[in-house]
Amino acid sequence: MSSIIGGKKILVGVTAGIAAYKIASLVRLFIKSGAQVKVVMTPAAKDFVTPLTLSTLSKNPVHSSFYNEEDENAEWNNHVELGLWADYMIIAPATANTLSKMSTGTSDNLLLATYLSAKCPVYFAPAMDLDMYHHPSTKETFSKLQEFGNSMIPAESGELASGLVGEGRMAEPATILEFIKQDILNKLPLKGHHILITAGPTYEAIDPVRFIGNHSSGKMGVELANAAANLGAKVTLVLGPSSLEIAHSAIKVVRVVSAAQMFDAVQAVYHSCTIAIAAAAVADYKPKHTSDQKIKKSDSSFPIELERTTDILEWMGTEKKEQFLVGFALETENEVVNAKRKLEKKNLDLIVLNSLNDKGAGFKGDTNKISLINHKLEIKAFELKTKAAVAVDIFHEINQLLDAKILTS
Ligand code: CTP
Repeated sequence: MSSIIGGKKILVGVTAGIAAYKIASLVRLFIKSGAQVKVVMTPAAKDFVTPLTLSTLSKNPVHSSFYNEEDENAEWNNHVELGLWADYMIIAPATANTLSKMSTGTSDNLLLATYLSAKCPVYFAPAMDLDMYHHPSTKETFSKLQEFGNSMIPAESGELASGLVGEGRMAEPATILEFIKQDILNKLPLKGHHILITAGPTYEAIDPVRFIGNHSSGKMGVELANAAANLGAKVTLVLGPSSLEIAHSAIKVVRVVSAAQMFDAVQAVYHSCTIAIAAAAVADYKPKHTSDQKIKKSDSSFPIELERTTDILEWMGTEKKEQFLVGFALETENEVVNAKRKLEKKNLDLIVLNSLNDKGAGFKGDTNKISLINHKLEIKAFELKTKAAVAVDIFHEINQLLDAKILTS
């Protein structure tokens, strides 16, 4: 699995502390984790680590002033753009001076102006001498910044530049990286959820070589599982016959073949899950008798008597306690009426409607076009999107409905 910060844009703000030399390692760790990095420094920080080192490691120019005074064609370094570029901003080492200015909205250098413009989560890793770290005014600054929503990466104890021993040493780069990764994980919207997802077709055996099945590829369910895991959930994916591979470590895959096996797997985890999504195209009928041996052909016709399988989603609706339950409806006519009927009949909180009449929607492709109908029978229609993007939309809606449920309970 790629790192949680892989592909993220990280803006590192360096201030004038002796620990600034360690920022070279921090930038390397971010880059090795797959992040994009830009660095902004206070002018005084350049006495501690060179912009050349940090621009080489970050693969981006390093800025420390609004423009280069020595260059008459100098371009304005736009702090608003830098602040908006970042997914995360980390100020390390963060001196008492810069932290105090951050807490009062002072903006007398590019780093501070960028901090004030940033809309992303901001982390700061203080670095200062023992007595400064414990001074009441510094403590007040820490509290104020945390009240603003900034996250503090506490300093460590050890030998300080002054020769004193105690708290105030900037956290090590590896500790800073771990802190940020863990913090991002803890704040993921589906953290703490256990999500059960059924996906794929089921095969109902006629004999050892033949079956009744359908064209489902399992892609929509697998994308739901990936999205849920990326949003911090623990996922159990009960997957019918499908060639799709699942790599995410937060997804437990239970591979099944028939509707009966899918039902067994669902029963085993349903009561411990918080959200259940039935995306599988479960066979509604199975052969009443399955032959142990391959059936030989004859000249006469060959009737197969079918019987109903268990409706797994309906069972989940009956057994529902705290679970948030989501079903799918694949319709060819009277789409909305049929979907609403299913939502009510199966005691669902949300139903995902896809119409086979929509181009690009349905079983095998990589795209889908859905409408979501909630328990109040309100409908939201979405554009044609990749199944991965559709999965994100579905969880966005689930999260909104869960938040609303908490507020009204
Ligand atoms: N479902 C299930 N178990 C079944 C059949 C369906 O869990 N044995 C779930 C599907 O995963 C999907 C929803 O129920 O979430 C679909 O509902 P269903 O009424 O079966 O839809 P259709 O198969 O389209 O039904 P109909 O043929 O009545 O339209």
